[in-house]
This record gives sequence, C-alpha cells and structure tokens, in this order.
Amino acid sequence: MKKYNSIAIVGTQWGDEGKGKITNYFASRADYVVRYQGGGNAGHSIIYNNERFGLHLLPSGIFNTNVKNVLSNGVVIDLKGLLNEIEGLKKAGIVDISLFISDRAHIVFPYHKEIDALQEENRKSTIGTTKQGIGPAYTDKVARIGIRIIDLYDDDYLKEKLQENIEEKNRIFKAMKIDKKIDFEETYKFALEAREKIKHYVVDSSLLVFKALEKRKKVLFEGAQGILLCLDHGTYPFVTSSSPTSSSIPLNVGIPSYSISQTIGVTKAYVTRVGKGAFPTEFENEISKKIREVGKEYGTTTGRARRIGWFDVTLIKHAKRVSGLTGISITLLDVLTGIKELKIGINYTIGEHILESIPASERIYNDVKVNYVILPGWNENISKVKSFYDLPKNAKKYLEAIENYTGVPVVQFSVGPKKEQTINIENIW
Ligand code: GDP
Ligand code: IMO
Ligand code: MG
Repeated sequence: MKKYNSIAIVGTQWGDEGKGKITNYFASRADYVVRYQGGGNAGHSIIYNNERFGLHLLPSGIFNTNVKNVLSNGVVIDLKGLLNEIEGLKKAGIVDISLFISDRAHIVFPYHKEIDALQEENRKSTIGTTKQGIGPAYTDKVARIGIRIIDLYDDDYLKEKLQENIEEKNRIFKAMKIDKKIDFEETYKFALEAREKIKHYVVDSSLLVFKALEKRKKVLFEGAQGILLCLDHGTYPFVTSSSPTSSSIPLNVGIPSYSISQTIGVTKAYVTRVGKGAFPTEFENEISKKIREVGKEYGTTTGRARRIGWFDVTLIKHAKRVSGLTGISITLLDVLTGIKELKIGINYTIGEHILESIPASERIYNDVKVNYVILPGWNENISKVKSFYDLPKNAKKYLEAIENYTGVPVVQFSVGPKKEQTINIENIW
C-alpha cells in the first residue's frame, strides 16, 4: 500500500477546537491545504502578523505563500462569502493567494441562506444553525438539483437549472404562505459576475490532490466542525449536514481510501458547544464564565456565546473509533490556569449501566449521568512554555490523564492563540 505524506486535522468535539490555528501551524511545512467539507458555517480564527483573521471558506494555509489551498468537491461554496473573504485578505495586504476550487463543488446561493433562516424560524425545536445555507445546499446536492461550480460556465444549463430551482423554492414559499419571492434575474446576474471572478481558481481538484500525493508532496486536510457534529456519527439531529471525519476525506476529495497517513484530533482542554443539543459535561457557574471570557468563547461565525463543559473522555473515544486518531493536539490549555480543581468526565452511566458508547438517541443522551475524576489545577502562567517539561506538575498530570483515559497519544499542546504557542510532544511532520 502507498504511504502518502498527509495529515488530516479533525475536530474531535463539537467544533471550535482550534483547527484553524493548528492547520496554520502545520501549513508552514505543507505544500497543500485542502478543505474537504462544510462551508461558510466554519469559523477558523488565526493570528497572523498580530492580527486576528476569521476564515470561513478559505483554507487555513492561505497565509503561507508556498501553500496551494484547495476547496474540494465536498465543500459547499457561498460565492459571495468567498469573494468577500478574498477581498478582506487583500485589504489586509495578503494579495498572494494560491487557491484552487473544485469544478464539482456545489454552490450555496443566497436563497439557501434564506431557506436556512426560515426553516429555523419555523422549527418547533430549532437546531441553532449558523444560517449559512449549509443544510439547504447539501439537501439540493443529495436531491440532484444542486448547481456546481462547473455549471457556472455552461450558459444554457445554468439558466435552466437556476430557473428551475428558484421556481421550485418560490412554489414552496407560496404553498407555505411565506411572504418571500426569490428573484431569478438578480441571482443569475450575480452568478455571471462571480464566475468571472473565480474562473482562474477552478480545477479538477481530485486530479490535483492525487498528483500531489503521488509526488509525495505534504498535504494537509483541514476539517471543519467536529466529529460530534457529523451527519452520520454526531448527535443527530443537532449536527451539521456533512461529515467532518477523516474517513470522509477520500470521498470528499476524490482520492484513494489509503490517502490519510496520520489523523490529528484537535481537542480543547475542556469542551464547548454552540447551538442546541445534548451536552453531558456542560456546567454554568463562575468557572464556566471565567473560561468563556479567558478563552474568548464566542462564535467566529455568529458571535454566539459558546456553552462550556468539562473535558469528556467519551467524546474522544468516539472520535477515535469513527474517524481514527493517530494523536491528539490539546488546545487552550492555558485557559484552565487558575482553576483550583479540574474535572474530567471519564464515562457515562444510565442507572447502574456503564455505557460503552454515545447513545444514538438524543433523548437518551440527554439523560446520561457523567462520572468524573477530579484533578488539582495549577496557577502558573503557562503561555510561554516551550516544552512539555516546562509545564507545572499538575498541567503535565492533566495531559497524562487525558492520554491515559482516551487511549490516544497527546502529541501536541497549545498554550495561546499564536502559532508560536504550539508545542510538540512528539515530532509529527
Ligand atoms: P476552529 O473553528 O476549530 O478553528 O476554532 P475557532 O477559531 O472557532 O475557536 C478557537 C479559538 O481559540 C480561537 O479564538 C483561537 O484564536 C483560540 N485559540 C486556539 N488555540 C488556543 C490556545 O491554545 N489558547 C488560547 N487561549 N486560545 C486559543
Ligand atoms: P468550526 O469549523 C461550531 C453547529 C451550529 C449548529 C449545527 C448546525 O468553526 O468548528 P449548520 O449551520 O452547520 O447547519 O449548523 O452545527 N456548527 C458549528 N459549531 N463550530 C463550527 O465550525 C460549526 N459549524 C456548524 O452551531 O449547532
Ligand atoms: Mg470555529
């Protein structure tokens, strides 16, 4: 079997684990960074030249001029959002953008976002989506009525498909007595303008990435969201509409199943969640408020306050099984400084029964009881440490406990939002 030079970066919890920061860290040594799923729902914060950038669609390799950044077939692309993002970077002086967009990627049109918002408004139990049109765009893809990047360059086909789609959406609005009408001419005009602006980025990205792997180029696959938000293996229905697992990469990029050499699970030193859904280790008190403020736990895409919970071992065991993890990178360890006692949820029980995995039913999951171990915290400022050995004793013990309970080696940790605040325990690349 071929051994390619690739790493998948996946979030192991409910998103916002610091994937952007870690991808940007590895990107300085990479040739390619490939986003393989999701769309503008992602919000990846990166500090570059002391400035904070929030990337939604652009891969986190974009700050490295030597890196080729790819949006593969599995991504859904909001053209307006993408063009705004490119413009924003250019305004900040980042003009040398090396971007490749799959000709097979599906497009998120403004109507997908409007439908997303309307669906949320009309749901008895809301999901708490980012309203970026993700669900409706993937729905159209699965229903085989989606419009792909390649379709932008076939006038007759584009016109016919867009007209058909818009008429269908308008019929649904009318039937549901929703006072909304999507304007075909406006949408079509925008599509024609956007296609000119992106045409030099469009490629067969499956071929591009495959050739790169074959040439033993260093390829990073950047996940969006987290394993627990996976459409198949997450906490359904409070999930996103794609699969962030590393097992979804071959399909979502168009490369062989043996393409992933390592999978690094980016894992917060505690847990956060935005939007609705069960969250067994969630707590709300002075400590969670402190974590929220110190960790700046507010959504990059929506600005919503993130819910806070203690470290949950069962989530990582789940991620290890459904996605495969060769190592974990613990982020935001510095945020726990000054907390007297740190809790780690080691398993779940229902009644007398210890669970081996996460229940499929959200209702049952809501009722699990978490068993915790309590570890002593530390007070020393760790934001400048340069090695595992520099950490205070109790911080070392915390990382060791995570490794022992999850059964996954902690290969890296992070003590601040900057790239330099990333410490390898093992040599990864
Ligand atoms: P992503 O969606 O997984 O890329 O994560 P987000 O960017 O949405 O959220 C992670 C947040 O934590 C961002 O504000 C990062 O700047 C910040 N961050 C990442 N790593 C660290 C760390 O080790 N310490 C601290 N204090 N902040 C971090
Ligand atoms: P990154 O890549 C955290 C959540 C939403 C909602 C659910 C469905 O920054 O980690 P969607 O808009 O995808 O239909 O929303 O998924 N969600 C995220 N939560 N981080 C993300 O991305 C998320 N992307 C979607 O809050 O609960
Ligand atoms: Mg995020």
